[in-house]
Amino acid sequence: MQDYHEFLAEILITEEQIKTRIAELGAEISRDYQGKIVHLVCILRGGVVFLTDLMRQITVPNTIDFMAVSSYGVGARQSTGQVRIGLDLQEDIRGRDVLLVEDIVDSGYTIATVMEFLGTRHPNSLKVCTLLDKFERREIDVPIDYCGFKIPDKFVFGYGLDIDELYRNLPFIGAVDPARYQPRA
Ligand code: IMP
Ligand code: MG
Repeated sequence: MQDYHEFLAEILITEEQIKTRIAELGAEISRDYQGKIVHLVCILRGGVVFLTDLMRQITVPNTIDFMAVSSYGVGARQSTGQVRIGLDLQEDIRGRDVLLVEDIVDSGYTIATVMEFLGTRHPNSLKVCTLLDKFERREIDVPIDYCGFKIPDKFVFGYGLDIDELYRNLPFIGAVDPARYQPRA
């Protein structure tokens, strides 16, 4: 396995910047959901690091649940538009204030599919919080209520985001230099 230094083009967002921004997002969400219980629905696996930090910056009562969604396999770098729900929620969301917590919105297909899927279950509200927005690549329009950072069209990794399932544990967001990255055999 390659050391990430071998293909890191640049650190796009530092650990410190992520921390500061998540504190701001937590404060904003806490203001907006005053008097409510916010039900945080994390989209696995990429959203899990963000969720655990974000929920600790939210001061209103909150609950969590998880969904697994996959749009492309190992080796692929973009969504096919064919989004598969791999794991459904444990709990019913009827009447609840659902906030989807996602690592990155790229083409938009994942969030669009999840919103359509959950929208039929009659939540009281359904909003989206994403750490990253790769806005230049959007193919389908999706509403983003809370966004950590808008980023350029680069393949990124770390802080929950993977390259071929690896490097999710890194505390920063790095951009890949595709010329120096060697996919695993
Ligand atoms: P979308 O359906 O095209 O919006 O893709 C969303 C999913 O693709 C995200 O939840 C990520 O799992 C993955 N993804 C998109 N861009 C990147 C990236 O730069 N690095 C790692 N994963 C990414
Ligand atoms: Mg994801």
